[in-house]
Parts: sequence; C-alpha cells; structure tokens
Amino acid sequence: MLPVQAHVPKGGVNSSQRRLYVILEQACLESYRVTSGPKGKGDGVKYALLNCDDHQGILAKMNRDIADARPDITHQCLLTLLDSPLNKAGKLQVFIHTTKGVLIEINPSVRIPRTFKRFSGLMVQLLHKLSIRGVNGPEKLLKVIKNPVTDHLPVNTIKLTLSGDAKTVRLSEYLRTLPETHSIAIFVGAMARGKDDFADHVADHKISISNYPLSASVACGKFCCALEDLWDVL
Ligand SMILES: C[S@@+](CC[C@H](N)C(=O)[O-])C[C@H]1O[C@@H](n2cnc3c(N)ncnc32)[C@H](O)[C@@H]1O
Repeated sequence: MLPVQAHVPKGGVNSSQRRLYVILEQACLESYRVTSGPKGKGDGVKYALLNCDDHQGILAKMNRDIADARPDITHQCLLTLLDSPLNKAGKLQVFIHTTKGVLIEINPSVRIPRTFKRFSGLMVQLLHKLSIRGVNGPEKLLKVIKNPVTDHLPVNTIKLTLSGDAKTVRLSEYLRTLPETHSIAIFVGAMARGKDDFADHVADHKISISNYPLSASVACGKFCCALEDLWDVL
C-alpha cells in the first residue's frame, strides 16, 4: 500500500468563502488486470493503470486507440492544481470525472505522488477500494463519490467550460464581470483530443482563455494564476 500524506492549507478552509472548483473531465483512469496467478487462486493477480506507453499491445487487442489511454494528462493537471498557491490558500477543490463515469473527490491537502509510476499505483488502489486514507489520520484524501458533480457544488456557482473552440476572453477582465457572490467551477478536458462538449448540459458559458490550443495542465495553471491575482493570493 502506498503511503499518502497530507498538508494543511494555510489559514484552513472556510466553507462560506468563494472557491474555484475544477472538474477534470474525460479523464482516462482505468485499472487493467495484467497478470494472474494459477487457476483458482487469487494470488499473483496484478493490476495496472492502462496507459499508452506500457500497454500498446493490450490496447491494440481491445481495438482501442492508444491516444485515448493518457492518464498522464490527469497526473500533470493534479500536480499543477494542487501545487498552486490558490490550493495552498484553501480556495481550490478538484474533482476528476473519468471516461467510465467514475467521479472522484480530491482532498485539497493530499500530496499526489510526483512520479507517474507511483501515481498509477495510487489510482489503481483508489479504483479498487473506492477511497484512500492518509498515513497520519482517519481523513479520506481521495474518494469515489456519487454523480453528478453538480450535487457537490454550492448553489451559487458559475459553471464554465474551458475550450479552445470558443470565443477568447482576457481572463483578468472576464473574471471581474462575474458576480462576487458566486464561486466558479471550470470543466477542463483531461484528454489528448476530441470535442470540448463534456459539460454542455451543465455549463453556463464556454470560453477560450488563449489564442493558442493549450494542454489541460496549462489551462488549469492559467486559470489558477488569474484567480490568485483577483483574490489577492500571493
Ligand atoms: C488538449 S485539449 C483537449 C482536446 C481539444 N479539444 C483538441 O481537440 O485538441 C485539453 C483541454 O484543455 C482546454 N483548452 C485547450 N485549449 C484551450 C484554450 N485556448 N482555452 C481554454 N481552454 C483550453 C480544454 O478544456 C481542453 O479540453
């Protein structure tokens, strides 16, 4: 079992304050059974996080496109988001919504493993056990929760889809036009390609934040930076 640690946000989390909610959509997090023990015995069974580098043969056999098995994108986004000053100030909450429809809540204080191999081990453990506790306490640091994600957002929340295919806004100006009474939720595609239509049924607006196509991690980082400026997080 991987030891998962937590850090405490500076100033703690105040539930009534405005926060940024990030939903990483279309995340490819799939556990795959790679080896099995002798027939009838459970020992020797091993699972791995399906990915395009280690499982090309398996993906070809399943008739799946290797470009779709990119859990590294989710890993990159989590590091960017959880390392941000916005998160350290207790103003960020991240959810992951996988291509299989599994919704995961990330405790803001979790320390995500920095290497992909360790991250994979942790995600496989989570997908099987449905929650992961920290080494130093009973608190759940990662847990599978019930859909839809909108049930976990405060009522006063503006929901935005980030997309390279929408009208581009200057984020610093756009954010000032949003009501100060509301939190903000952004839906970001944690996939390598495909339409950004994952939140069309819930989002209030769809915006582009650059004239260039961005990686999901850069889109997340840019949004956190803009809110740190607006909410005076240094
Ligand atoms: C690599 S893109 C995903 C696929 C993209 N629709 C494509 O076909 O290339 C990853 C995600 O980053 C975000 N993104 C990319 N470019 C963006 C932009 N210019 N403005 C805002 N978000 C962007 C979107 O949420 C997108 O789903």
